[in-house]
Amino acid sequence: MKQQDRTRRAYVETYGCQMNVSDGELMEGILAERGYEIVGAPEEADVVLVNTCAIREHAEQRVLGRVSQLGALKKARPEMVLGVTGCMAQRMGESLLEGQGKVDLVMGPDGYRGLPQALDALQAPPAGTFTGANPTRRSRQLAVLDLNLGENYQGLEQRRAEGASAWIPIQRGCDHRCTFCIVPYVRGPEKNRSAEEILGEVRGLVERGVSDVTLLGQTVNSYQWEGWAFPRLLRDVARVDGIRRVWFTSPHPNDVTPELVEVMASEPAVCEQLHLPAQSGNNPTLKRMLRRYTVESFLEKVDLVRSAVPDIALSTDIIVGFPGESDEAYQDTLHLMRTVRFDDAFTYKYSQREGTPATRLPAEQFVDPDVAQRRLEELIDLRLEVQAEINQSEVGRVEEVLVEKIARQEGQILGRTRRNKVVAFPGEPDLIGQYLHVTLDRTTGTTFVGTQVGQPSLAHVR
Ligand code: 5AD
Repeated sequence: MKQQDRTRRAYVETYGCQMNVSDGELMEGILAERGYEIVGAPEEADVVLVNTCAIREHAEQRVLGRVSQLGALKKARPEMVLGVTGCMAQRMGESLLEGQGKVDLVMGPDGYRGLPQALDALQAPPAGTFTGANPTRRSRQLAVLDLNLGENYQGLEQRRAEGASAWIPIQRGCDHRCTFCIVPYVRGPEKNRSAEEILGEVRGLVERGVSDVTLLGQTVNSYQWEGWAFPRLLRDVARVDGIRRVWFTSPHPNDVTPELVEVMASEPAVCEQLHLPAQSGNNPTLKRMLRRYTVESFLEKVDLVRSAVPDIALSTDIIVGFPGESDEAYQDTLHLMRTVRFDDAFTYKYSQREGTPATRLPAEQFVDPDVAQRRLEELIDLRLEVQAEINQSEVGRVEEVLVEKIARQEGQILGRTRRNKVVAFPGEPDLIGQYLHVTLDRTTGTTFVGTQVGQPSLAHVR
């Protein structure tokens, strides 16, 4: 390790999806391993990393605002290193280094193994004797933007918060080419981790008190490593002693197979919840999106899952205003929502991403932003209506929850059911990390309010 005057302090601020959160933990792990102290605020840090998302323009605008705020902080502390990492760094590249030398480092999602070296290079005194007026000012900037076909971060440990739950990345990148999506261009092709290493990591996490794990990948259920396809990995993870809850996200509908559904139905640790991104309920739109399924085959997957796990909670992602989406096509999406009745839906307005195939669709097909906005609002109303009806019908149930955190309301804590529903109920913070049973007394429409039944069970006993 490099000799330092004092421990260097790093702060990582993450935006975007669960994979990004997991990448943030990876960067923290890599830096902690190199002797950095990880701190909770940019003001305390020598190295500030903003870990970014590129999925929609709105996500990027938010980050650019934050980067300029942090740039102002840097003005008062010129020795601070400011880095932008992740998908937006990969997409915007060196252009982020322009403008008053605010940003010192841009690094894409495949560069994190080399993060300490990049920071060393940036923090080293400039080569040669420097006798300028401001010797602490760095003249260097770095862009680490190579996509690496082999990088799956094998052998590197994440730095995870204490607690019962952990994210486990099992796959990076994506081999699909959904025409709206930037991910394949900023995260490269699909790269899977060794099943043995994943299972070893899960066992190690159990030793540290983890009993709830979420397997992560861009198309997580297309995972493949030697003899392991995803159903086998899921089963083996679910059978690790001490593991009580297993989730996975995000699956592609086409890789929801009878084998996978069989494991979901038969392994007690696999939770009764599935995120199944539909994107649209209209076949020509799905075709232009290059989703590789039809509404009919999507519905067959829904039936397959529900026939094996009848009580499963389903969630989805929907994009409205994709180029060429007529009002009739949009009505088909509403129809799909009414047919499936998802427990939850993440709804988005199409956002044009430079370099993706959809940007090359004929200009006249692009949907007026006001029309897209109206469609989005109506879709959200429908989602809330269906969700409230489903949740109302669940009032009175007794469910197992894992207590996750303190609620905003005083004296209340928040737990999550095995169907991914959030319940607030009276309880002390020392119950965090415990599995309890609660009665669902009422619903706000999206979440529940409940009361505890009986005594907490030990986290490691099934
Ligand atoms: N515009 C709007 N939404 C998008 N998503 C991905 N790319 C775009 C885009 N260009 C949505 C999809 C995906 C979710 C993570 O984000 O619904 O499933």
